[in-house]
Amino acid sequence: MAALNGKVALITGAAGDIGAAIARRFIAEGATVCLSDIDDDRGRALADDIGEASFYTHLDVTTEEDWRIVLETLLSRHNRLDILVNNAGTLETGTIEDTDLATWENIQASNSTSTFLGCQAAVRAMKETGGGVIVNMASQAAVRPRPSTLAYAASKAAVINLTKTVATHCADNTYNIRCNVVLPGAIDTQMIYKNQAAGESDEDFVAAVNARYPLGRMGTAEEIASAVLFLSSEESKFMTGAQLRVDGGGTI
Ligand SMILES: NC(=O)c1ccc[n+]([C@@H]2O[C@H](COP(=O)([O-])OP(=O)(O)OC[C@H]3O[C@@H](n4cnc5c(N)ncnc54)[C@H](O)[C@@H]3O)[C@@H](O)[C@H]2O)c1
Repeated sequence: MAALNGKVALITGAAGDIGAAIARRFIAEGATVCLSDIDDDRGRALADDIGEASFYTHLDVTTEEDWRIVLETLLSRHNRLDILVNNAGTLETGTIEDTDLATWENIQASNSTSTFLGCQAAVRAMKETGGGVIVNMASQAAVRPRPSTLAYAASKAAVINLTKTVATHCADNTYNIRCNVVLPGAIDTQMIYKNQAAGESDEDFVAAVNARYPLGRMGTAEEIASAVLFLSSEESKFMTGAQLRVDGGGTI
């Protein structure tokens, strides 16, 4: 039987590379998927492409009102939310010397506050409907930060501790909610190219990133989707509050 048969899932940042890979994987495993993003054109195009088991809705993850509306729509349409993947995120590079306050606050909002709002909305909904699973998206940068990822690394470290507190809060049987976090290493998506130095060729950039990994390469969006599927399915039913590093050995 497919791993997610009959499950209803909400994926944020689904128009992006990793979000889209998760969505395709979830559909292949029998889930009904609500795709959400702020990039409505790409989100709708993805929903059209992957067909009937998915639908698209606008959700700015930094906005509490958006979360309220999307959860209300989902519950009235499907009566339940079984899986939330807090995948949306943004990367701006900068060190302690050149990161301004606005950049710092934007990054905390898109990566950390957004995950708080998502977890809160999901816990409230799942508590009423018998439980569920939350998968958050952090980063290798949370545990092995580089000088140039100051705001991003801090925001993703917050996601790890948020995951643990949600997991412990929801650990008793009255909730039946598990919450885990994935820490990807460099993944070959458009986001990674934000780390490229001005004037550096794509070839040199990719070679330099690959060289940082014991497995000798960046990961793929599909490899992150595999980890998210595992944490979303019964195969991981004894896991909560866990940090799953999917990083080609980058944090060894
Ligand atoms: N690519 C990597 O190397 C890498 C490594 C570690 C962690 N991650 C994390 O994986 C997740 C997905 O990244 P990706 O590589 O697919 O990037 P991506 O840029 O392809 O996708 C990110 C998506 O999030 C959406 N988004 C941004 N702000 C939003 C907001 N306020 N509300 C709703 N949607 C918003 C964007 O529109 C985009 O579709 C992110 O959380 C990222 O931090 C990526």
